[in-house]
Amino acid sequence: MQTVTHRQLFFQHIAQTSDFPLGLEIERAEGIYLFRQGDQKPYMDLISGIGVSNVGHRHPHVLEAIQNQLDKYLHLMVYGEYIQTPQTQLAHALVQTLPAGLDNVYFTNSGTEAVEGAMKLAKRYTGRSEFISCFNAYHGSTQGALSLSGDENFKQNYRPLLPDIRHIRHGNSTDIEQITSRTAAVIIEVVAGEAGVRVPSADYLHAVRQRCTDVGALLIFDEIQTGFGRTGTFWAFEGFERSGVSVVPDVLLCAKGMGGGCPLARLLARRR
Ligand SMILES: Cc1ncc(COP(=O)(O)O)c(C=O)c1O
Repeated sequence: MQTVTHRQLFFQHIAQTSDFPLGLEIERAEGIYLFRQGDQKPYMDLISGIGVSNVGHRHPHVLEAIQNQLDKYLHLMVYGEYIQTPQTQLAHALVQTLPAGLDNVYFTNSGTEAVEGAMKLAKRYTGRSEFISCFNAYHGSTQGALSLSGDENFKQNYRPLLPDIRHIRHGNSTDIEQITSRTAAVIIEVVAGEAGVRVPSADYLHAVRQRCTDVGALLIFDEIQTGFGRTGTFWAFEGFERSGVSVVPDVLLCAKGMGGGCPLARLLARRR
C-alpha cells in the first residue's frame, strides 16, 4: 500500500491562502531556528511567523506559563464574567507599560478581531460611522478590518465591504483635513508595515492626534505588528515624542508578539 506523505495531506486538506505556499515541513522550532522533518540542520527563521515570535520559538518563560496554566483551567466562561488571575495580571502588566489613563483591556484571539472591536467601540462611543485609514494599510482579514485595509488586491473579491471608509496618505499632512466631525475614528499603523515599513515624522503623528482631538474622533494606533518591542521601544509610538510630549492614542491595538505563539491579542482604551 502506498503511504501518503504529510506533504500530500497538506496540499489535499489544508486550505491554502497563497498561490505558492512555502510547504516546508517543520518538526520543531527553538529560539531563532526552525528544524525540518528529517534534517538536523538549523534554519534561521528570519520571518518569525510574520512578526509573531518576538522572543523566539518556545521561550522557556512562555512554556512555563502555559504549563502552569494547563494544570489549573482552560476555558471557563464567556469574556469578562469570571475573575481569571492570569488574565487580570496580564491586563495590569500591559497598563503599566502605557501612559496614565489607558487602563482598560479587551482581549481577543487575533489582531483582526482587535480591529473589529475597536471599530465597534468607536461607533458606540462617538455615534458616528465614518472611518479613516491609510492607502496601502493592512489591518486584517475579517470584513471590517478588510474594509479599512488600503490595498485593493486584498479587497476586490469581497465587495461590498463596509461603507463610509475613507483613505488618506500615510505621512501626508494635507490629507489630515479629511478628518472631520463625521469621523468616528482614524486608524493608523505607527510604522506602515505592508506599505513598505514607512516611518512617519513625529510632527505628522502629533498633527493627526491634534486633529482627532479637535473634531472629536478617536485615534486608534494599530501596533499589531510594531508593538511588544519590535521597534526598539516597547510600543512604537513611544519613539515619536516631540519636545518631551508623547503622542498618545485613544485606542491601542496589539497582537502577534504579545502571544509568544499563542493566539492572543487585545484592544486597550480609557475606561470611559
Ligand atoms: C498592522 C496589522 N494589523 C492587523 C493585522 C491582523 O492581525 P492578525 O493576523 O492577528 O489577525 C496584521 C497582521 O499582519 C498587521 O500587520
